[in-house]
Amino acid sequence: MSKSYDVVVIGAGPGGYIAAIRAAQHGLSAACIDEWQNKDGKNAFGGTCLNAGCIPSKALLESSELYHRAQHEFKKHGISTGDVSMDVAAMQKRRASIVRQLTGGIGGLFKANKVEGLVGHGKLLAGKKVEFTPVDGEPEVIEAGNVILASGSVPIELPVAPFDNDKIIDSWDAIELDAVPERLGVIGAGVIGLELGSVWSRLGSTVTIIEAMDDFLFMADRDVAKVAAKDFKQQGLDIKLGAKMTGAKTVKGGVKVDYEDAEGSHTFEVDKLVIAVGRRAFTDGLFADDAGIQLDQHGFIVVDDECRTRVKGVYAVGDCVRGPMLAHKGSEEGVMVADLIAGEVAEVNYDVIPSVLYTAPEIAWVGKTEAEVKESGRAYKTGSFPFAANGRAKALEQTSGMVKIIAAEDDDEILGVHIVGPMAGELISEAVLAMEFSASTEDLQRTIHAHPSLAEAVHEAALSADKRALNYMNR
Ligand code: FAD
Ligand code: NAI
Repeated sequence: MSKSYDVVVIGAGPGGYIAAIRAAQHGLSAACIDEWQNKDGKNAFGGTCLNAGCIPSKALLESSELYHRAQHEFKKHGISTGDVSMDVAAMQKRRASIVRQLTGGIGGLFKANKVEGLVGHGKLLAGKKVEFTPVDGEPEVIEAGNVILASGSVPIELPVAPFDNDKIIDSWDAIELDAVPERLGVIGAGVIGLELGSVWSRLGSTVTIIEAMDDFLFMADRDVAKVAAKDFKQQGLDIKLGAKMTGAKTVKGGVKVDYEDAEGSHTFEVDKLVIAVGRRAFTDGLFADDAGIQLDQHGFIVVDDECRTRVKGVYAVGDCVRGPMLAHKGSEEGVMVADLIAGEVAEVNYDVIPSVLYTAPEIAWVGKTEAEVKESGRAYKTGSFPFAANGRAKALEQTSGMVKIIAAEDDDEILGVHIVGPMAGELISEAVLAMEFSASTEDLQRTIHAHPSLAEAVHEAALSADKRALNYMNR
C-alpha cells in the first residue's frame, strides 16, 4: 500500500519546511520532500536561504565587516592591533559551520514535530498524488490530502554570459570563493550585487558593478538611496548606472566584459564575474503536464491571495509564486497555508513585508516610498532624524544615515518607514509592528524608547513628522 499524508510539501526552504512544521503542529501528518545537494555532494534541508543565500551571505558580511573595522576603525577607539590579516579559509570554515548547524537543525525540528523529511525529488501528479524519487532509489507514489509546492528559485542566466561556475559565476559560487579575487565584476546592483560586492570589496577586491537602471536602488526611497550611493562610493564600490552588459568572454586569467552606457561602449577585465540580475521561479520537473498547475508569463506558479493554485487542495508558497523573493515572505505564506488546511482563518499582510539590505550602512524599509505615496494622491507628511544626532550611533562610530517616516496628513497613519544606518534591519521591526497595528506617528511619539538606543532615531523621526523632534532642529 502506498504511503499517505494529510500534507505533502515539496521543497524544504523557508517556505516549505515552515509549512510542514506548522501543519504537524495542527496534528496533521506531514512529509517534506527536498533534493538540495551542497557542493560537497551532501543533501541538506533549508533550501537556498540556509545553504546558499540569507545565512551564508550574512556570515561573510559579518566577517568582512569586522575585518574592515579592525583595519579602519579600531585606531579611533585607541586599539592597536599591528597588521590585520584575513584568513579566507578560516572565514569560509565558519560560514560552512553555521550553515551545517542550521540545516542540521531542521532535521531535528522535523523529528521533534513528527514531520517526515524525505530526501529526493518530488513531482506532483494528477489527483493530489506525489511521485517521490529518493536519492539513488526507485520512484514511489505518495497519496496526499493536500500538497504544498515550495520549490523556490534559481539565478537568472544571461545568454550573453552563461555561467561556467569558474570565472562567470552565480551568487552561490560567489559566496563559496576560496580566495579574494583581485578584480571582481558584478552584473546587477540589486540586493545580491551590493551585499556580495561589499563582502569581497572589504576583503580587498576592486569591485565594479554594472547596473542597467539609471536610478540607484530604484526600489528604495530616494532619500535612502542617496545616502547609500554616497557611502558605497566612499567604500570604493564602482557602480556604473544606466549600463548594459553586451557580452562577457573568458580570456586567459579572467573575463573580458563589454558594456554600453550613455557615453558609448566600454570594456573592462576582471578575474571573476558574478551575474546577479535577479532570480526565476524553479519549477523544472515539479509537476506532471496533467497536474493542472498553471504558470504565469514570468514562470511563477499562479496562486490567489491565499496561495491556492487552480487545483483544489494544492497550494504554492515562497519564491515560486508572485511577490518579493524573501525568506520571511515565504515562511509566512507557509504558515498561512498550513493554518488554512487546518481550517483556521489566516492571511498574509502583503502590505507590510520588510526589505533589508545587510550592507554597511544597512538599508531597510517597510510600506510605501515617498514617490509611491505621492503617486497615490494621498496628502502626506514626512519626518526624519539623522543618526549623526543619535548618541548610541555616535558611541558605535556609525553615524551615517537616517530614519524617515511617511504618514498620512489626515489621520496620521504611518504609510512607510525607511532606514539607512546602523542595525536598520533590526530597527525596522518596530515599524513593521506599528504598521501591522495601523499605528499613527503619535503612537510612536508616545511610546517610550530606551536611552541611549538607535531606536530613539525612530522615535525622533516620528516626532519630526509633527515638527516636534526634541534632539534635532525641525525643518
Ligand atoms: P528555496 O529556499 O529556494 O527552497 C526551495 C527548496 O526546494 C530547495 O531546497 C530545492 O532544492 C527544493 N526543490 C525544488 N524543487 C524540488 C523538487 N521537485 N523536489 C524536491 N525538492 C525540490 N531573503 C531574505 O529574506 N533575506 C536575506 O538576507 C536573503 N539573502 C539572500 C542572499 C542570497 C545570496 C540569495 C541567493 C537569496 C537571498 N534571500 C534572502 C532570498 C531567500 O533565499 C529566498 O527568498 C528563500 O530561500 C525562498 O524560500 P523558498 O522556500 O521559497 O525556496
Ligand atoms: P535584484 O532584483 O535585487 O537585482 C537585480 C539587479 O540587476 C536590478 O537592479 C536590475 O536592474 C539589474 N539588472 C537586471 N538585468 C541586468 C543587466 N542585463 N545588466 C545590468 N543590470 C541588470 O536581484 P538579485 O540581486 O539577483 O537578488 C535576487 C533576489 O534575492 C532578490 O529579489 C531578493 O529578494 C533576494 N535577496 C534578498 C536579500 C535580502 O533580503 N537581504 C539578499 C540577497 C538576495
